[in-house]
Amino acid sequence: MKRRHFITTTGTALLGGLAAPHRAFADIALPALAYAPAALEPHIDAETMTIHHDKHHAAYIAKLSDALKTAKLTDKDAVTLIKDINALPKDVQTAIRNNGGGHVNHTWFWKWMAPANTTPNGPKGKLVEAIQTNFGGFDDFKKLFGDAATKRFGSGWAWLIVKPDGKLAVTSTANQDNPLMKGVVPDAELGAPILGLDVWEHAYYLKYRNKRPDYITAWWNVVNWSQVDKDFTAAKA
Ligand SMILES: [Fe+2]
Repeated sequence: MKRRHFITTTGTALLGGLAAPHRAFADIALPALAYAPAALEPHIDAETMTIHHDKHHAAYIAKLSDALKTAKLTDKDAVTLIKDINALPKDVQTAIRNNGGGHVNHTWFWKWMAPANTTPNGPKGKLVEAIQTNFGGFDDFKKLFGDAATKRFGSGWAWLIVKPDGKLAVTSTANQDNPLMKGVVPDAELGAPILGLDVWEHAYYLKYRNKRPDYITAWWNVVNWSQVDKDFTAAKA
């Protein structure tokens, strides 16, 4: 594996005018889950986790890799690529937007979850204060985030982000778009995601069928607040 394939965001607080995600981002390869596929049950079932990770995420990576080879962009990391889609060769913009977004979003999504009761039940420290300041309280934030996830038409994501001005916001993107994608997601607020929820049907349909709100309610039980706290701290650095 080539050194240049690794992201080196540590200590790089600003990229392209937006706070950079902070968390170590491996190269363009499928990251191992930090827990067993069954570890999130009963909230997220093992079969969904397995298919979601091993098939869906792997497919985004395969298609992203193909696009990068086509465009001879193999020396770029996924986060850098998706931040400025419009700067990419036109013939690969859509492929990298969809599959680069898919790779980045899912890589973080796995880390934002942990088996229930293995991490704090909510944010701590400065993130608590920021949530109170920006949303009025934790319950108000959860309501806003849940509404964003529920109302996202079709496939997409709900996000908690740190905006360039340092304030928190809840936003939502369609498909595999990400709030780091400047210039291509006019309906979303831009910023560094510190928590995201996948509301594609592939994330919940086996267990929850058409009941997306039930999936969202259950998902709060497996949010890895330790990771969210870390990401908030890094995004604010
Ligand atoms: Fe997904």
